[in-house]
Amino acid sequence: MQNDVLLTEITNGVAMVTLHRPDKLNALNGELLEALESTFLAIQRDDSVRAVVITGSGPKAFAAGADIGELSKQSAHSGRIFAERGQRVFSLIERLGIPVIAAVNGFALGGGCELAMACHMRFAADSARFGQPEINLGIIPGYGGTQRLPRLVGMSKAIELILSGEMVDAAEALRLGLVNRVYPHAELLEKTIEFAKGLAAKAPLALRACLEATQIAGDTSVLEGLHAEASVFGRTCGTQDFAEGTTAFLEKRPAAFSGC
Ligand code: COA
Repeated sequence: MQNDVLLTEITNGVAMVTLHRPDKLNALNGELLEALESTFLAIQRDDSVRAVVITGSGPKAFAAGADIGELSKQSAHSGRIFAERGQRVFSLIERLGIPVIAAVNGFALGGGCELAMACHMRFAADSARFGQPEINLGIIPGYGGTQRLPRLVGMSKAIELILSGEMVDAAEALRLGLVNRVYPHAELLEKTIEFAKGLAAKAPLALRACLEATQIAGDTSVLEGLHAEASVFGRTCGTQDFAEGTTAFLEKRPAAFSGC
């Protein structure tokens, strides 16, 4: 899983995925989107991966958006396909069934912010800045920003950010609920990987079930959501990891989950 524009390394159940176009602030071009898609499909098939961290190369950016050079060539017809392609890749990440944490090490703008929002959690460096500046290019966010930003920060703030194109810093992003945690820049990766390792030690089928059940919450009524929750809950009660987790508690020892 190695590529010129996307670096992947798997250690102790944690896949570290790094956007690697630092001279272009990791702008998402077609090659990088393709690499993201094939890498996340490979991760999905790899039973050894229990958590994923995604970050950007270089000190300045997570990703400064879709590649504006490529974007500038789009027509009304190809623009729709361009957006659908990015949406497909980001939805794959969102529905991966394995927790994905964005370690946002700098600018997360446009498609970069949308990529971070498709991840299950966002940990940010204190130097990070978030925004949807597409309005300044005469377009709207096309990789999920109009849908995921209101769900994370509320409709009113999302409209303000999308219409103004203004950036928010990490402290404001934390206050808004756009990010989960903020760390000093130098500590971001270490702290994020440490958290991911903690997730990697948990029961993977239960992690998948947690994601599945909570992701329904944004898409359905409470009644339907509760129905789905009970069904997913029941499924987890049938796993060996459930037997191991409860037995380990009663025997006062750490659980050793097998993923079965
Ligand atoms: N697409 C393509 N190239 C990009 C890019 C993008 N989204 N964002 C940055 N780059 C490139 C720049 O063109 C520049 O390349 P060059 O050195 O070959 O000229 C390089 O990355 C460094 O960017 P630069 O603008 O010089 O850095 P800066 O520190 O002065 O400004 C930003 C940083 C993020 C404020 C600025 O790059 C920016 O506004 N980028 C576009 C953000 C955006 O509109 N994203 C939404 C796209 S839909």
